[in-house]
Amino acid sequence: MEGVFSYVNDHYQCEGVPLAGVAEAAGTPCYVYSGGAILDAYRAYDSAFGDLPHVVCYAVKANSNLAVLAMLAREGCGFDIVSGGELFRVLKAGGDPARVVFSGVGKTRAEIEYALKSGIQAFNCESEGELAEIDHVAGELGTTARFSLRVNPDVNAVTHPYISTGLRDHKFGIDIAEAPAVYQRARRFQNLRASGVSCHIGSQILDYSSILEAADKVLALIEGLRADGIGIDHVDLGGGLGISYKGADKAPGIADFVQQLRERVAGKGLTVMIEPGRSIVGQAGVLLTKVLYRKNSPSKEFVIVDAAMNDLIRPTLYQAHHEIRPLHRLGGGAKVVDVVGPVCETGDFLARDRALADAEPGALVAVASAGAYGFVQASNYNSRPRPAEVLVEGSHWRVVRTRETYENLIEGECL
Ligand code: LLP
Repeated sequence: MEGVFSYVNDHYQCEGVPLAGVAEAAGTPCYVYSGGAILDAYRAYDSAFGDLPHVVCYAVKANSNLAVLAMLAREGCGFDIVSGGELFRVLKAGGDPARVVFSGVGKTRAEIEYALKSGIQAFNCESEGELAEIDHVAGELGTTARFSLRVNPDVNAVTHPYISTGLRDHKFGIDIAEAPAVYQRARRFQNLRASGVSCHIGSQILDYSSILEAADKVLALIEGLRADGIGIDHVDLGGGLGISYKGADKAPGIADFVQQLRERVAGKGLTVMIEPGRSIVGQAGVLLTKVLYRKNSPSKEFVIVDAAMNDLIRPTLYQAHHEIRPLHRLGGGAKVVDVVGPVCETGDFLARDRALADAEPGALVAVASAGAYGFVQASNYNSRPRPAEVLVEGSHWRVVRTRETYENLIEGECL
């Protein structure tokens, strides 16, 4: 399930690096990413498209560490951004702005200007108000902005309700039935050119038939738009492919999924774009943490660790399951415990009612499948410095973001 993470003589490793050594040298809590796993997943997408014109636009929001972005940029990967801050990171990491698409429902004027000046590929637009705003800014800059409408296909992606986006009552996109009229009205904007149609129906989708259903609807829309003389040259099918967080989840294969997309798009004179995030970085990362204490309540046993909901919010926010692996397997008997952090909230847990062995005080454990939406959603709640981030490449590892200090916590504040 977790590929490059495995036990060698009962010591948990990432690629060729035993993780206990990383935890001791870099401290805990600490995120560790496998460079090899990230590149493998990117290449699985890229090669499955073969000779079909395509751009894999990695969704930066999933993991925006500069070293991760730089690695992908060197491979020729494109990027899906949702803020000026993400664009800044992509450019710092050496990403090619001509392979960047800008998504999101609330782009500000400053962000639009920054994106246009940087020469991004296209905007994925979500409202007519936004079209007018981009037209205005492009006019001021004396340039033409390329756009796709992000359409809402009214397809139900089976996933957690917070990360499903393709139903009519979600805030995302423009109703697909309205889209032809919006493209027609957009013709009046002098500084815009309609170049694509985009769509993203949700995240952590294990049964990708919903994505294919959305793709079929989008491709039918494109046919109609072309018949009306609108020169669509690309289709952006979003991200969303899920990963296996626990044994029972069967993760879809990237190559199979892309093959299905290829069959639908081939021969239509379209460049395909996709925006995968989780399926590129999710299984490539773990969060290392140390057991501080154990304690019992009348009905529960708790394992208290030094990572908390501020470091990894997924378990409490989405009831997400992350496997917990001891870094040194001793073969002790498993007990059913709650793994909790030091934050002052009952919602501060990493795992509940979990059978766990080898987690005595001082033991190190890895919270698995934490490469996507882990560090990026970390906060300083309870004035906890955010963890370090480490990148493993083969048998080498290095810190790619230092642990925050107490001084970092008060930067920008005044007495
Ligand atoms: N494109 C757009 C427009 C998106 O909104 C997203 C994710 C993606 C691409 C990438 O989707 P992916 O391939 O990673 O599924 N924090 C949540 C996930 C939120 C996803 C938001 N949008 C979590 O931890 O599960």
